[in-house]
Amino acid sequence: MSQQKHYYSQVMAPPGKSHLKSKITQSALQHYYDETARRKTRADLKLAVSLVTDKKIAVDCGCGAGADIQYLLDNDFFVHAFDIEKSAIDRCRQRFADIPQVDLSQSSFINFEYPPCQLVVADASLFFCPPEAFAAVWQKVDDSLQPGGVFCGSFLGPEDTMAREPESEQTFWKTVTVLTEQKVRLLFEEYHVLSFTEHKRSGLTPQGTPHDWHIYAVVAQKG
Ligand SMILES: C[S@@+](CC[C@H](N)C(=O)[O-])C[C@H]1O[C@@H](n2cnc3c(N)ncnc32)[C@H](O)[C@@H]1O
Repeated sequence: MSQQKHYYSQVMAPPGKSHLKSKITQSALQHYYDETARRKTRADLKLAVSLVTDKKIAVDCGCGAGADIQYLLDNDFFVHAFDIEKSAIDRCRQRFADIPQVDLSQSSFINFEYPPCQLVVADASLFFCPPEAFAAVWQKVDDSLQPGGVFCGSFLGPEDTMAREPESEQTFWKTVTVLTEQKVRLLFEEYHVLSFTEHKRSGLTPQGTPHDWHIYAVVAQKG
């Protein structure tokens, strides 16, 4: 298993001390989305996209500022994207105005109506699903993926600061679902796992706060 740095320390760095969900201000959230709107596309998403050759329909769960939506559009996908935050969806509506291949909804993981699709993207998002809802959400994700469909997303490992201290100032959205490697692998028992990467590193957030990152990133294809 490889251990990589870079990506998650950028995307997951909470932008400031006052960012517990209950204290998020819209301006702080906009700043976060500004920072990530045009970030680089992960190798995992490039791999996942390369595996889908026809019926290119994707669902982007917790789409944020739409970096992955843009990449999917560039690769000829129709994209259903949702996020719980109104400001994320407002921003995406502006960004993708008049593009009929994008369907945006303000929704939570549990309430979204997942359409049949060939690709589910959940980058640095699904672990903000409340733990008590995770099994039902995962069932919906699995049901929406058609045979041969691809999942590309990430899960929070137990050694991440957010996992150890979910109520701490390090936790960007308030609830997190934490999974061991074994539990992540169990989700993909019926899938062909093409990439399974443990991202584990300790460092400082851009604000100088110590943070341990522990993320499992997975690309897997349904049989
Ligand atoms: C770390 S950001 C990642 C955004 C995007 N996937 C990216 O990689 O740029 C996590 C996103 O998940 C969204 N989110 C958090 N809890 C959610 C929930 N319960 N349902 C849907 N989206 C949620 C947040 O609003 C946020 O936009």
